[in-house]
Amino acid sequence: MRIGVLTSGGDCPGLNAVIRSVVHRATVDHGDEVIGFHDGWRGLLECDYRRLDLDAVGGILAQGGTILGSSRVQPAHLRGGVEQARGHLRDLGLDAVIPIGGEGTLKAARLLSDAGLPVVGVPKTIDNDIESTDVTFGFDTAVGVATEALDRLKTTAESHQRVLIVEVMGRHTGWIALHSGMAAGAHAILVPERPFDIDEVAARVGERFTAGKKFAIVVVAEGAKPLPETMKFEEGARDVYGHERFSGVARQLSLELEGRLGKEARPVILGHVQRGGTPTAYDRVLATRFGWHAVEAVHRGEFGRMTALRGTDITMVPLAAAVETLKTVPAARYEECGAVL
Ligand code: F6P
Repeated sequence: MRIGVLTSGGDCPGLNAVIRSVVHRATVDHGDEVIGFHDGWRGLLECDYRRLDLDAVGGILAQGGTILGSSRVQPAHLRGGVEQARGHLRDLGLDAVIPIGGEGTLKAARLLSDAGLPVVGVPKTIDNDIESTDVTFGFDTAVGVATEALDRLKTTAESHQRVLIVEVMGRHTGWIALHSGMAAGAHAILVPERPFDIDEVAARVGERFTAGKKFAIVVVAEGAKPLPETMKFEEGARDVYGHERFSGVARQLSLELEGRLGKEARPVILGHVQRGGTPTAYDRVLATRFGWHAVEAVHRGEFGRMTALRGTDITMVPLAAAVETLKTVPAARYEECGAVL
């Protein structure tokens, strides 16, 4: 068989582990040929690719980023994109394509699959917001990075009797905020699923100081928003792909809290550091298993599906179900965490 693989959307620790796994399983165990498209769907649409053999994927298991590059180009956004993709798959003699990506990539994968193209998806995102899989690789790494940062910030916050408001990634969902905040013992955790009340946040932080504590740490997901009309809040603009560019909820919160509490408050935006660098062992294993199962699905002709973790098993789920809704943090999960507002 001849299989194409691509990585699309925001990068994520573990992408290289999937690529490596696909190449190993396909070439060594099945005798297939694998090619990798450059910069996600752009590579497929412009026929820009290279051959991936064992040498090409040597030593990449622990590397962050993606050796293939990524972009946010989507076939649906380009006139004739689907037909172009179909033509290139035919010309290159490809039996299947394995796109590795998040919500947008999987929606594009579904579109191509609905148009009859042989597609098997692999979900990725540090945000962990893809329905149908218990976890996505990259999440564990991001939570680890954020937790380490929070641990470090606690000591400096205490030395200076400050409130530190730490903004983590999570445009629609608060998984990273919830997990890193719980792991580091943050004093308030704000997530997009539940608009926050600034008075409550200020009261909670204020109570800590009244009780004699010297500092407070607030973790806020970048997509968290205040309840309407409760504080001055600047919405973010959109990039060319329609993604909201966040304007810094941590910065806005720190101004509010400083004004209300008379305590020094500083914003810390972790940003892309959460996406960079080497994946954790957990993410490497999950990514490797996803790659292995994606190749098996190709050989079974199980197209229009993606790999998913259910419990401890990898299963194949329809792309359609995977992209219908986002996996948000359930209300019950808040209740398990005393810091949640
Ligand atoms: O991968 C998803 C994500 O991590 C979001 O949480 C974040 O808003 C976004 O990527 C940022 O992506 P970029 O700045 O690369 O467009």
